[in-house]
Amino acid sequence: MVFGVDIGGSGIKGAPVDLDRGTLAQPRHKVLTPHPASPEAVVAAVREVVQHFDFRGPVGLTFPGVVIGGHTRTAANVDQGWIGLDAEGLFREALDLPATLLNDADAAGLAEVAHGAGKGRSGVVLTLTFGTGIGSALFTDGVLVPNTELGHLELRGKDAERRASAAAREKHDLSWAEWAVRVDEYLDLVERLFSPQLVIIGGGVSRKHERFLPLLAPRDAEVVPAVLRNDAGIVGAAMAAARRG
Ligand code: BGC
Repeated sequence: MVFGVDIGGSGIKGAPVDLDRGTLAQPRHKVLTPHPASPEAVVAAVREVVQHFDFRGPVGLTFPGVVIGGHTRTAANVDQGWIGLDAEGLFREALDLPATLLNDADAAGLAEVAHGAGKGRSGVVLTLTFGTGIGSALFTDGVLVPNTELGHLELRGKDAERRASAAAREKHDLSWAEWAVRVDEYLDLVERLFSPQLVIIGGGVSRKHERFLPLLAPRDAEVVPAVLRNDAGIVGAAMAAARRG
């Protein structure tokens, strides 16, 4: 059995994962993300989540920033103390278990492509997660190009995620229709650059896809809601840990 942990801006959620089905093997346990979300505080919260299940085995974890070789390289929406850290090593030591760390959107994308909206789809598939930021996971024939960070493309002179994330909708008190215009503008940009055949819309807001997907303009790429929703990060993290062996 492999364990997945999704480290998000508001909560840290984890569960053992059934890798064959791409589902949680037990109901997930969630603790609030500490503020400030310093590495020490987050590591302690993750330990609490894993110990809740008395779990011993490989653990996959997500991080909302660039992760290369287990090192966290950026921290757009989390404590700056993560930049340049061997975070995977920290988790391994604190949990005393094999640990694998990857970008949160990459994890969600892995799960969606294997078990969700991208299952069986070849060609260029892009998962976008709309939450505090915008995360991206780019696949070609099922193979992930990690750390694409497309939320930071420039849109009207700003980081795209500042205009079009789910948090931007709340912050600027936008109606669904107003927000959909911004999402469309962002999808236009992404489509011009990557020509995906399929775009999977994930993140917390994908729960409410009926409110905004029908408002988006028609485009060449097929745009569909994520299927695994809230569990995609946990499942994808566990998949990454299992692949590590
Ligand atoms: C980060 C990405 C992350 C996304 C979603 C962005 O601000 O740079 O690494 O995937 O937010 O959490």
